[in-house]
Amino acid sequence: MSQTAIDLTPRAARAPHVIAIASGKGGVGKTNLTANLAVALASRGLRVCVLDADLGLANLDVLYGLSPERSLRDVVRGECRLSDVLVEGPEGVRVIPAASGFEELTRLGADEQLRLLSEVDALEDDVDVLLVDTAAGISSNVLYFTAAAADALIVITPEPTSLTDAYALVKVLATRYGRREFLVAVNMAAGAVDAEAAFARLARVAERFLRVRVEYQGYVPYDDAVPRAVREQLPVLLAAPGAPASRALVQLAERLAARPPSTPTGGVQFFFRRLLAEGRRS
Ligand SMILES: Nc1ncnc2c1ncn2[C@@H]1O[C@H](COP(=O)(O)OP(=O)(O)OP(=O)(O)O)[C@@H](O)[C@H]1O
Ligand SMILES: [Mg+2]
Repeated sequence: MSQTAIDLTPRAARAPHVIAIASGKGGVGKTNLTANLAVALASRGLRVCVLDADLGLANLDVLYGLSPERSLRDVVRGECRLSDVLVEGPEGVRVIPAASGFEELTRLGADEQLRLLSEVDALEDDVDVLLVDTAAGISSNVLYFTAAAADALIVITPEPTSLTDAYALVKVLATRYGRREFLVAVNMAAGAVDAEAAFARLARVAERFLRVRVEYQGYVPYDDAVPRAVREQLPVLLAAPGAPASRALVQLAERLAARPPSTPTGGVQFFFRRLLAEGRRS
């Protein structure tokens, strides 16, 4: 067995890229997109962590077939370390279950905040991408997570209600939180033309009335392989790698990976600092 004398593993050359996955309307496929993008990015050799920030049902765990026993709340309370909370999903994707702890996160005292920040600091050198799966809508929790991330990937479907709800989300993020750039992915599209038309409808009004930049990242077709995979508690990329949705998800991941963060400052620490600051302001 050969041994290398020098560790050639590249260290992260820059801060981890934090991307929040958000939508106005519920059920558009955020959690599936997050779970699969994470797997696709991890199979490209990136170190991926997913923060499950959906306060409702802990869907991400279910999709990965995991049942975490602890959450970020236990870290904040000083009951365990962040490493005890992280659970490993497919392809080495690490999941931070945060769902049940978020309300408390916004009301932390100074000591607790410091404890949390020093724990998440460990991720800074250990992660290339942090994906944040948020809940649908424009409740303040969703907004904090999305406002704090370097990038916001807004998921829409071609349905008119999804577009109007996405516009409402972009509007509040732009006017209240000053976000000027948005990434958009279209899910459950009939095909490329359908997806691009949906994107164009959102882009037109957002650029015209809100003066923000919206950037198309790609689409995922409607594909029965997705709900089938959900029933198997597997990301579709692993359950059916050749399915049209899986191929599209790989392309979407490649496009995202090739893209530098919209906000050059960033990283995990920065994300949590902003998250805590937003919580205090409310
Ligand atoms: N490309 C697709 N083709 C077909 N079905 C899909 C596709 N993407 C997602 N679905 C189905 O849509 C449903 C909702 O997906 P998912 O839970 O990922 O949405 P969500 O946006 O996270 O929902 P919520 O707002 O409740 O968090 C799931 O049952 C899933 O199987
Ligand atoms: Mg979800």
